[in-house]
Amino acid sequence: MTILVTGATGHFGKATVDFLLQKGIPATNIAVLVRDENKAQDLLDKGIQVRQGDYNDPASLKAAFQGVDKLLLVSGTDIENRQKQHENAVNAAKEAGVKHIVYTSFVRKNESDSNPLGALAQSHIATDNAIKASGIPYTILLNSLYADALPLFLGNNVKETGIFFPAGEGKTAFTLRSDLAEAAANVLASAGHENREYVLASSEKNSFHDIAKAIGDLNGVDISYNSPSQEIFRDALTQAGVPPHYVGISAAFGEAIKQGEFDVPSTDLEQLLGRKATPLEQYLKSAYA
Ligand SMILES: NC(=O)c1ccc[n+]([C@@H]2O[C@H](COP(=O)([O-])OP(=O)(O)OC[C@H]3O[C@@H](n4cnc5c(N)ncnc54)[C@H](OP(=O)(O)O)[C@@H]3O)[C@@H](O)[C@H]2O)c1
Repeated sequence: MTILVTGATGHFGKATVDFLLQKGIPATNIAVLVRDENKAQDLLDKGIQVRQGDYNDPASLKAAFQGVDKLLLVSGTDIENRQKQHENAVNAAKEAGVKHIVYTSFVRKNESDSNPLGALAQSHIATDNAIKASGIPYTILLNSLYADALPLFLGNNVKETGIFFPAGEGKTAFTLRSDLAEAAANVLASAGHENREYVLASSEKNSFHDIAKAIGDLNGVDISYNSPSQEIFRDALTQAGVPPHYVGISAAFGEAIKQGEFDVPSTDLEQLLGRKATPLEQYLKSAYA
């Protein structure tokens, strides 16, 4: 049995491989897809099969997926192009005879074009649909927003500046990336997950008021939370020299959170982990105490 993990030079893929090893899957049964083999020496040293490939290069994917039983397709980082990239991966999996495809999708409530996250959400929706249409048995992991992404929204000096982010009173199931990777490893390492979609989210939901209070309490200071309008937020970031692409993504996440896109009730993560998700406070302590 061969399990192949893509994106294994990244945080999620690497953590998933480590959890597979911890769960007793022999290294010889694990393969990874990497763009740059020079970044994979640690994986080679563990006895894992390293295969080179790029989501933009269908032939490399087809060659890399030969003999693979279970494929974890970790979503790519090139938001504008990844719908095509993921389709390349699904087609290659089909041609190579992969028996089960597991995909790191993104949780959402709004499946329509009005989803504030635009191409970011639509590329996941299109990939989920392509996987289902492929006929390959699948598991879609609808991952919630990483707690680890919070610094992108809070900025570098939150203890001095407070929080300035257009998320209103929206509550989010911020979820540790390592919990999500462990859940993915559990899906790969056990049977019975075919043709399932799991909403993988912490049962704890927090607003940015809650986060300001938690970081303040950890440091014995008061931290303010100011939720400006979209326009004021975009203007302020632009004037501060933030690149337009990042201004757009950041503003879109603020709006999505405000609309409750990540306020999702689900016990799937707890069930897959066999425990509660890691409390957000643990992450905040490590990052902000
Ligand atoms: N749920 C959330 O809150 C959240 C937040 C951020 C990201 N994400 C999504 O989750 C994914 C995994 O997160 P992460 O933290 O592990 O991200 P990451 O550390 O940036 O890792 C991304 C991985 O994808 C690989 N990759 C990118 N483009 C590729 C291509 N064209 N062909 C082959 N491999 C490619 C990268 O390879 P290189 O090492 O060669 O660059 C890297 O290994 C991200 O890619 C993104 O889609 C989700």
